[in-house]
Amino acid sequence: MSRPVLITLLFLGVLTLGLSGWGLTLWWRQENRQLSLTTYRIRSPKIPPAFSGWRLVHLSDPHNTQFGEGNNQLLELLRSLKPDLICLTGDLLDSYAPQVDLAASWVERTQAIAPLYYVTGNHEARLLEAPEPHQPAPYPLLEERLKRAGVTILHGQSRSIVRDRESLNIIGLDDPYFASLLPPDPQRIELSNLARHLDPQRFNIVLCHRPELFSLYAQAGCDLVLTGHAHGGQIRCWPFPNGLLAPNQGFWPRYTAGLYTQRSTHMLVSRGLGDSLLPLRINNRPQVIVIELLAAEGGKQFGMLNA
Ligand SMILES: [Fe+2]
Repeated sequence: MSRPVLITLLFLGVLTLGLSGWGLTLWWRQENRQLSLTTYRIRSPKIPPAFSGWRLVHLSDPHNTQFGEGNNQLLELLRSLKPDLICLTGDLLDSYAPQVDLAASWVERTQAIAPLYYVTGNHEARLLEAPEPHQPAPYPLLEERLKRAGVTILHGQSRSIVRDRESLNIIGLDDPYFASLLPPDPQRIELSNLARHLDPQRFNIVLCHRPELFSLYAQAGCDLVLTGHAHGGQIRCWPFPNGLLAPNQGFWPRYTAGLYTQRSTHMLVSRGLGDSLLPLRINNRPQVIVIELLAAEGGKQFGMLNA
């Protein structure tokens, strides 16, 4: 083979490899860093007229992921949604590479858009203590920053959200792993005593991290449960339309994304924003959920419409 032909073939080989790498990078960015938006409408006779039309944004599992410089893409999207309330259901930090300042700074800006309610995930539990001696523990530092910003952190607690003398009941459960590391407290709401804290006269929204405990939320009688943790099952395509694997559910998981209904309980599972040990999503883009609350007339049954 002559030298010019060899050089040409080498050049074409390098070019093909470069283009494939570029294409793969673009595809990875599209699947892992391009935000998607899903809207649900919930109609229930338990939603008071004062809250009809309320917009609740559900975020989960950021794992320190950034969408644009300083999370500007995410913040811009949140502003455009004009939410009345934002709920964040755990894994704000990633325990394998915790970045407290990064997490706290975008949450502080999110709290300025609408009141933010937050519950812990399993990754926060791993960060309750310092990873190395003589280092500060990451989670307590984060909690201090969030509290200073005015974020409502619910460690097994409930709050009434009041509007025109009508109210919603919102309960936040710690991740079970996080709760197991806290000192005992009879005042704390846990999954085991959740039913006692639900108000049958009001619409009960429960924030928690774990979707695999759905049957327990249904047994307690929650109206709407917001969860995350499963990351959509990572790979959502044939032959795994419901996802390939999820933490605490293993391969072919059941609760990975969308709406699940049992008795009068409806659970929404967010596909989440970020990733942890497995930074790969296929057909499973990072997700922001909007839930519009609608008062039902004439005692209509609870219904949820995917818009
Ligand atoms: Fe997570």
